[in-house]
Amino acid sequence: MSTQSTACNQTSAWAALCSAFSAVGQSFDLRSAFATDAERYQIFSQSAPHLFADLSKNLIDSATEQMLLDLARQTGVEQHRDAMFAGAAINGTEGRAVMHWLLRQPPQTAVTTALLGAGNLSNELKAVHVVLNAMLGYAEAVRADELITDVVNIGIGGSDLGPQMAVLALEAFVLPGKRFHFVSNVDGHELSAVLQGLKPESTLFLIASKTFTTIETMTNAGSAKSWFLRQGGANIARHFAALTTNVEAAKAFGISTTFGFWDWVGGRYSVWSAIGLPLAIAIGEQGFRQFLAGAHDMDEHFRSAPLQRNLPVRLAMLDVWYRNFHGFTSRSIAPYHSALRRLPAYLQQLEMESNGKRVNAQGQTLAYGTSPVLWGEPGTNGQHAYFQMLHQGTDVVPVEFVAVKKPRHDLPGHHALLMANVLAQAQALMVGKIDAGGHRHFPGNRPSTFLLLDELTPTSLGALIALQEHRVFVSGAVWGINSFDQWGVELGKVLAKDLERRLQSGDVAGLDSSTAGLLGRLRC
Ligand code: F6P
Repeated sequence: MSTQSTACNQTSAWAALCSAFSAVGQSFDLRSAFATDAERYQIFSQSAPHLFADLSKNLIDSATEQMLLDLARQTGVEQHRDAMFAGAAINGTEGRAVMHWLLRQPPQTAVTTALLGAGNLSNELKAVHVVLNAMLGYAEAVRADELITDVVNIGIGGSDLGPQMAVLALEAFVLPGKRFHFVSNVDGHELSAVLQGLKPESTLFLIASKTFTTIETMTNAGSAKSWFLRQGGANIARHFAALTTNVEAAKAFGISTTFGFWDWVGGRYSVWSAIGLPLAIAIGEQGFRQFLAGAHDMDEHFRSAPLQRNLPVRLAMLDVWYRNFHGFTSRSIAPYHSALRRLPAYLQQLEMESNGKRVNAQGQTLAYGTSPVLWGEPGTNGQHAYFQMLHQGTDVVPVEFVAVKKPRHDLPGHHALLMANVLAQAQALMVGKIDAGGHRHFPGNRPSTFLLLDELTPTSLGALIALQEHRVFVSGAVWGINSFDQWGVELGKVLAKDLERRLQSGDVAGLDSSTAGLLGRLRC
């Protein structure tokens, strides 16, 4: 259930923001803001666990930020956050608690007992650590097993994007001698290309599915199992493991090695659970524990920092400002580190599956916009593709740069050039360039946020991801929506089942002429 008592657009803070937007917000100029306020960078930048954030190149002043924080207060963001951390069933449409944060909570101490109480959450935490220890023990055994050279994760959505993004991001920490493959698409080209390079005796398949019913994953898992048996593979218990809340279904599928988790872990929030096993195998027990610890540090920041210095809250309120007052409909993610190349895809699911909602938690139609479209590519590649539009297009797209101070390679010159480019893009978006000729004119005043990690490590990646989770939580709370369900993906699944049958039979009765026509073409 949402803890929100007043819809965001009915609050006095919203009204104040509307007036402020008309009076100064829409004509706000970053260049004059910097020229008139020597403190601007200090005021709008801050440290948070394991990273630094510069928000100063955003279209905001202190008075507006105060109003946005008032909006957060008036919409019950703090109560909603506390309800999540208390284990309340804030995922109302599914009647579930939302406790991915508990997966990174250290084992129980006197301090955590005070926080969690002696009741259910303590029991849940014990269960979390039982599975975590078992999974990390298994990960270490696989790492030590030189006969296993290839680990294939079969899963989709949250059962793919999180572990895939993190294994790539932490490639510098991955155990040499093991290769990691991620198969998500039901398109057989993907699985068949991976299988071509594998031998059953040296392959470990991880079947990752919260529900163990997702058709793509079940189809790929079935084909992988058939391939394994056809190629003479014998020991399913050694070569297949399941990561799921539905251990019974995994057993029925024939997998006896299983690592479970709980319905209070949403798919897109599940990389911290057994779904993170590929990452644990890749970077080892110590690395995975650091990943959890970095996220936990961000949890504590989110839970306890005053709103004014609470980074997830500040980022989320900027998101609200841009979406609902400026009317910007997208945000571009620009990671200036090639290992973060799947970060935009990961964040797309996190934000758009969580907050892409048109009704509030009570099911009533909303009168304001919610999730922006997220998109992006690593820098500097994006600069040579779509940055043209960011600089000179008709739409303003706030950009979120993610940079890493220390590289992990020693090629001379590259990193300085990369860092010069990320700084230059943020600067160019803001300052623009006056040119009477039109084509060469850059309007400037285009907003960006700059997130800076000292190094890309398991700890800092954990903190970065938890930051993004909590930021999505806050904007969802302001909008009064349930950020933890995803009914919007269901209709297509049902229709695909019906159309799969019709593709076999050729039955087009009751279909619209377009679907029927295309189906006919696909059959002949
Ligand atoms: O269909 C959407 C979705 O439910 C996502 O939320 C989820 O991450 C993905 O499918 C995979 O689900 P599962 O882990 O149950 O296979």
